[in-house]
Amino acid sequence: MRILVVGATGTIGAAVVDALRGRGHEVVSAGHSAGDHRVDLSDAASIDELYAAVGPLEAVVCTAGVARFGALEELDDEAFVASLANKLMGQVNLVRRGLATVARGGSFTLTSGTLSQRPTPGTAAVAMTGAAVESFARAAAIDLEGRWRVNTVSPGWVAESRMKMGLDPMPGIWAAELAEYYVRSVTGEESGATLEAEEPLES
Ligand SMILES: NC(=O)c1ccc[n+]([C@@H]2O[C@H](COP(=O)([O-])OP(=O)(O)OC[C@H]3O[C@@H](n4cnc5c(N)ncnc54)[C@H](OP(=O)(O)O)[C@@H]3O)[C@@H](O)[C@H]2O)c1
Repeated sequence: MRILVVGATGTIGAAVVDALRGRGHEVVSAGHSAGDHRVDLSDAASIDELYAAVGPLEAVVCTAGVARFGALEELDDEAFVASLANKLMGQVNLVRRGLATVARGGSFTLTSGTLSQRPTPGTAAVAMTGAAVESFARAAAIDLEGRWRVNTVSPGWVAESRMKMGLDPMPGIWAAELAEYYVRSVTGEESGATLEAEEPLES
């Protein structure tokens, strides 16, 4: 399969690229500042340029998407607008604007996060955008049924990300184990699903 991974240079994206390439798929990488292609998820024209440049695809995986952390009283208008433009509309537009490039029978796999369903203090914008991504994928899958599949992977706290913050890696999920959920979404048959990924996938 020829698969575009947006966010391929990130902690999760790099592991997803490895997992997909390890299974013999051709991966085209895109990032904000590195990768085969550059894209700004918050800019719809940039997404159009990306699709024009990459050529035909069978699947798209998005492991990019930024939303702002902060207590509700501290989040200003710009923080909400930026979170919606990047993590939500960026992923929505990857699907909407990718339909002409991704072959029928192909798929889109988006990323939310477990904070969407189990928020903690200071996550109002992050939880809101993640939950909206999941709802979008669930509803879009209905409209696209029989033509394209759309799923969301909802990662728990990634062990490598915890370590970068000086925390114990556990409780967390290693990026390589998390990547298996993305492989399942791309190569499986489900659509409209939110794959909660806090523990390694049972084989
Ligand atoms: N890590 C965790 O513990 C965790 C847990 C739950 C959910 N998530 C979610 O998973 C996603 C990826 O997390 P991560 O930890 O892998 O992030 P990361 O290591 O910071 O990587 C982010 C990736 O997204 C790209 N990117 C950043 N801004 C972009 C933009 N405007 N347009 C296009 N690409 C952009 C980056 O490209 P450059 O490197 O070129 O800038 C990079 O490839 C995020 O949505 C995050 O909220 C992460």
